[in-house]
Amino acid sequence: MTRLSKKDVLRADQFTRDDIDLILARASEYEAALASKRELDLLRGKILATLFFEPSTRTRLSFEAAMQRLGGRILTVSEAKSTSASKGETLHDTIRTVDGYADAIVIRHPDIGSAEVAARATAKPVLNAGDGAGEHPTQSLLDLYTIQKEQRKADGLTIALVGDLKHGRTVHSLATLLSQFKVSFLFVSPQTLRMPRGIVGRVQERGIAFRETEDLGHALGEADVIYMTRIQRERFADAAEYDRLKDAYVLTRAALVKAKPSITVMHPLPRVNEIAVDVDDLPGAAYFRQSANGVPVRMALLALLLS
Ligand code: NCD
Repeated sequence: MTRLSKKDVLRADQFTRDDIDLILARASEYEAALASKRELDLLRGKILATLFFEPSTRTRLSFEAAMQRLGGRILTVSEAKSTSASKGETLHDTIRTVDGYADAIVIRHPDIGSAEVAARATAKPVLNAGDGAGEHPTQSLLDLYTIQKEQRKADGLTIALVGDLKHGRTVHSLATLLSQFKVSFLFVSPQTLRMPRGIVGRVQERGIAFRETEDLGHALGEADVIYMTRIQRERFADAAEYDRLKDAYVLTRAALVKAKPSITVMHPLPRVNEIAVDVDDLPGAAYFRQSANGVPVRMALLALLLS
C-alpha cells in the first residue's frame, strides 16, 4: 500500500510535495525499465477503462501504453457518440456501469468538474484526463518531470506560460503544481485570455513571483522554460473572436535568438501554428520528448494507485 493507493487524481492541488517526489522518482525507474526493454507485470490481471468524450491522441494512447507496459489490460471508448451518453445516459450512470468492468477509470469530458462527478459514482480510482477548460493533473506531472529532466531541477527557474491561459487546462494544472517549487512565472496571453484569477490567487498565496504580459518577445529573454499552448478553439462561443486571437503567438527559430541558449521549449501538443516547425530540431525543443514522458509518468501513477 502506498499513500496514493485507491485514490482519485482529480486536481493538481491534491498532490503534496512528497506525493510529487514519489511519483516522479517512480517514473524515472520506469523510464529506465522501458529503455532496457525489461518486461513488467505489476498490474497483470488489472483492467483500466479509458473513456474519452473529447478528442485525444497522446493522453489516451500514453495511458493505454502505460497500462499495457505494466502487464495490465485496457477497455477503451474514444468517441462519445459510441456510448450511451448519446442516448441521454448521465455520466453518473455510465461510470456506475464501467465500475463493474474495470479496476480504474480515466476520463476526459468537456464539462468542468466532470471528473469529480465520475469519482462520486465509483469507489475505484478515477483519473482526470481533462475536464473541459478545468484541469489536466496527469499532464502537469509529466510536464514537471520534463522540466526536471531537461533543466536538471525546477527550483530557481523562470517559467513562461504562453497562449490561451484562460481555457488551457494544462496550464491551470501546471501553474498549480509548480507553485510548490521556488519558481517564478511569466504569464503571457492576450488580455481576454488571461490566467483565471483563482489560479493567480493560488500562486500568490504560495509567495511565488509572477508577471502578466501580452508581450512574448519580452518574456523570451528571461525564460528558462517556455511553455506554448494552443488557442482553444472549441471553448470559444464567438468564432470571430477565435479568428482574431488564433495567431497571437507564433514562436519561431528567429525569435529564439533572443532567448537563453539553455532554454527549454515545451508544448502539451497538439500544436496548430504556435511553434514554427523550424524550431523542432533545436536542442531545447522538448515537446516530443515531453509527450514520450507521458508513458513512464502514467505508469508510475497507475502503479501507485492500483498496486
Ligand atoms: C492538451 C489537452 O487536451 O488539454 N493536450 C494534451 O492533453 N496533451 C492541450 C490542447 O488540447 O491544447
